[in-house]
Amino acid sequence: MPELISDEKRQQAVSAAIKIMDMAYAPYSQFQVGAAIIDEQGRLHQGVNVENAAYPNGSCAETGAIAAMIAAGGEKIQFIAVAGRGTELCTPCGACRQRIREFALPHTVIAICDPSGSKAEFSLADILPHSFGPDNLG
Ligand code: THU
Repeated sequence: MPELISDEKRQQAVSAAIKIMDMAYAPYSQFQVGAAIIDEQGRLHQGVNVENAAYPNGSCAETGAIAAMIAAGGEKIQFIAVAGRGTELCTPCGACRQRIREFALPHTVIAICDPSGSKAEFSLADILPHSFGPDNLG
């Protein structure tokens, strides 16, 4: 497993998250989000938010990308790019921070993007300190 992800792979994920954002189904919030993961094998997995007329049943882009990773046999998130529009950073919601936590590595990077590119990078500990994960179950 590579310790550090290449700049090329990072850029691949950033570009993919920005591009896939337009595929989101967000008729209620009008807030489209794209997410792209590079897994432990260097493979790309993508997701978008999918809303629902019964509002709480909507799902986030990160959730979709994680589901795609697991379905493809990926096990760990090396890098995840999340892309949204607006003036504020499109940081993952609390539930998605915990979902990312489940598959995070010590060096996992979360890149927050807008249509022009990556605007900020965080570690999991930055956005979910003192987290509860699989190890906590003993
Ligand atoms: N959303 C995401 O998909 N990911 C985020 O990181 C933040 C929020 C979605 C959920 C909902 O469909 C819309 O954005 C507005 O909250």
